[in-house]
Amino acid sequence: MKILAIESSCDETAAAVVEGRTVLSNIVATQIAEHKIYGGVVPEIASRRHCEAISTVVNDAVATAGLTLNDIDAIAVTHAPGLIGALLVGVNYAKGLAMSLNKPLIPVHHLRSHIAANYISHKELEPPFLCLLVSGGNSLIVKVNSYTDFEIIGRTRDDAAGECFDKSARSMGLEYPGGVNLDKIATEPDFEKYPMPWPKVDSSELDFSFSGLKTAVINLTHNAEQKGTPIDVPVLSATVRRRVCDILIANTLKAAEMTGMKKIVIAGGVSANSELRQRMTEECEIKGFRLYYPEKKYCGDNAAMVGAQAIYEYQNGNIADSMLNAAATLNIDYLK
Ligand code: KG4
Repeated sequence: MKILAIESSCDETAAAVVEGRTVLSNIVATQIAEHKIYGGVVPEIASRRHCEAISTVVNDAVATAGLTLNDIDAIAVTHAPGLIGALLVGVNYAKGLAMSLNKPLIPVHHLRSHIAANYISHKELEPPFLCLLVSGGNSLIVKVNSYTDFEIIGRTRDDAAGECFDKSARSMGLEYPGGVNLDKIATEPDFEKYPMPWPKVDSSELDFSFSGLKTAVINLTHNAEQKGTPIDVPVLSATVRRRVCDILIANTLKAAEMTGMKKIVIAGGVSANSELRQRMTEECEIKGFRLYYPEKKYCGDNAAMVGAQAIYEYQNGNIADSMLNAAATLNIDYLK
């Protein structure tokens, strides 16, 4: 089944053609250069750029796959969660296409597709497994019981790990997207020079809290600025990165211990983080767990991962009609 998938939840307009776990084409038009000027994504601009790019990106994806629209068996689209104006562009484009071609329309939850990025990179991977899902807007530990059955067992109580990286980076003067640049510049951590809290959440061993850590970094950089003390950006970056990874890894390993699950998957934009990948690899080797993470090109927002999840949604009967709407927020376990 050849699925044309569309993704427009944030600042990438993306389309891909996927057949099972094989990617026939994967086109991404990124808006990063424009949002960089403002230090973060401006939702209004994102929606407008999606409107401008979507036809070209979709046509490009179909042509690159060596196909025409008539060869496509179904249209998949990210319908939630994300920036509402941005999502609506993709959803309405997909609806129009599905109706005009008389093909099934498959709504795909953005976070489910981040997990599915791993199916592209690891053809043998099958649920059940435990997933650390870390992106710009979400940080979750999810039990993936089947391709369409998700159970949240840990979540952030406030900010996502990506948000903590991005805002820490911005306060150090690094360009958007901060998490990527912080990871690139980081050297060796120094907790004596830059003490960092390890926020714990009362009543849950698996939940995260990142707002205190983010605030600590922002306060530190503001105080240094006021006093005229220079910040060692590579060292502070490494210190923040170390602490974020400490928190993510400790909770994930705890979750594996509690659930008895031996397959661990990491997904979402932050799964590209070099320290997270390296330390998780080492920890999982010691503990005898099998670790999976996506190839870097599938970590950030893309439509190939939407197509990879769509086949399972379709098989589970998750097919939409012309009433499909976008939603800014929606839990990953909204439908089983
Ligand atoms: O999954 P994603 O592309 O978008 C959402 O669905 O949210 O995640 C974007 C997030 C941003 O916060 C970005 O800074 C972060 O992923 N990110 C990283 C790295 N690459 C992307 N954070 C830390 N280290 C990286 N190498």
